Amino acid sequence: MKTPQGNSPAAVGKLRTAVVGLGGMGQGHCATLREKVPEMELAAVVDTHAETVQRVAAQYGVLGFMDVPAMLSAVRPDAVLVVVPHPLHAAVAVPCLEAGAHVLCEKPLAECVSGADRILQAAEKHHRTLGIMFQERFAPPVAAAIDYVRSGALGPLVRTLAIIPDFRTQHYYEASPWRATWKGEGGGVLVNQAPHDLDIFVQLAGIPSTVWGRTDAHFHRIEVEDCACAMLRYANGANGLLYCSTLEPKDMQLIEVVGERGMLSYRHGRVTCATYSEDLRRMSDTSTEVWGRPKVQAVELPIRDEPSGHFSVMRNFARHILLGEPLRCDAASALGSLELANAVTLSGAMRREISLPVPRAEYDRFLEERRASATFQKKTVAHERVTDPRAQQGR
Ligand SMILES: NC(=O)c1ccc[n+]([C@@H]2O[C@H](COP(=O)([O-])OP(=O)(O)OC[C@H]3O[C@@H](n4cnc5c(N)ncnc54)[C@H](O)[C@@H]3O)[C@@H](O)[C@H]2O)c1
Repeated sequence: MKTPQGNSPAAVGKLRTAVVGLGGMGQGHCATLREKVPEMELAAVVDTHAETVQRVAAQYGVLGFMDVPAMLSAVRPDAVLVVVPHPLHAAVAVPCLEAGAHVLCEKPLAECVSGADRILQAAEKHHRTLGIMFQERFAPPVAAAIDYVRSGALGPLVRTLAIIPDFRTQHYYEASPWRATWKGEGGGVLVNQAPHDLDIFVQLAGIPSTVWGRTDAHFHRIEVEDCACAMLRYANGANGLLYCSTLEPKDMQLIEVVGERGMLSYRHGRVTCATYSEDLRRMSDTSTEVWGRPKVQAVELPIRDEPSGHFSVMRNFARHILLGEPLRCDAASALGSLELANAVTLSGAMRREISLPVPRAEYDRFLEERRASATFQKKTVAHERVTDPRAQQGR
């Protein structure tokens, strides 16, 4: 690591960083790191596709490798960005942590909770920082909503709602060999397109204690789900509803959290909040009015006007390691949304309610069985290593 001299942004040291996985997102992260993250220096790139690794290594003037162990022993990086398909996150992240590198992992942490557990345990054992690329947490309305809920303003949970759509074409699924397969991806919308919003939902509402779910492939010719819905029950008896799909535009996104003292709604980048003149439960118990109802008073949340994107997560991760800044996307806090995703999948497959935490051995058996018995012949075209242009806006 280049040694820090003082605490000013210009003087902080740089983390020598390797990027593993040079697909659409990995190449995007190389550019972001180079252009917008003064606390990190791109030291090496890794991909199993020879032509890609040669081209990207030459583009950035850094060392290129086709496997992680060779990169770790030659470069000894301070940090690694893990940007391979999610079923490979554990296989890449664990040896990096064991070799002493801090890891910033793409979402979801893994495709299954047992894989996520393995990465978290390795980070703890080797005392390394493990971050997760949940850049949406830095979007000003989301950050304001999370702060507001954490202040306790909503009170005990009454009900939740999450509508999480994000449209995808059939071509999107066919342009990447690993996508939408049990072997290559380990699930569909729940582990790929929905994780950012599932994370926001869990940050705002917490983790339910039981889930009744259903999953389908509705529009797309794929073997995993493009649509999932679930009834949620929380520890205090509150109920919730969840719907995720790649069938409709993100414009209809909606997350609502209703508490006994107030409510919050997050709709496609806009957050609105309100409080009541009296706590709902207390008013229900004590009011002597037949038609008594609380008055609802809108609350203006202070929303910081700050740019946000992947660079915010990278800078915070690096500044946590270099300067001790609080880590805003710690991987442990990403486990809840993966528990929820896996619970919906398992419940849909088993047609019964699932209690959280998800039973690890049962989920692993389910996934193994799906992988072993998959007969779907996926149509593939050439692998297009291009990421969602929206994910690159603002980076
Ligand atoms: N945070 C975000 O906004 C965001 C957006 C898109 C994708 N992602 C995540 O990034 C990850 C990668 O997605 P993508 O869209 O870039 O996929 P992609 O298919 O474009 O790229 C994956 C790359 O990994 C390489 N690879 C596969 N196995 C490897 C291995 N063992 N070692 C090294 N390289 C290997 C492939 O050759 C390919 O270049 C996924 O986990 C995805 O969920 C996050």
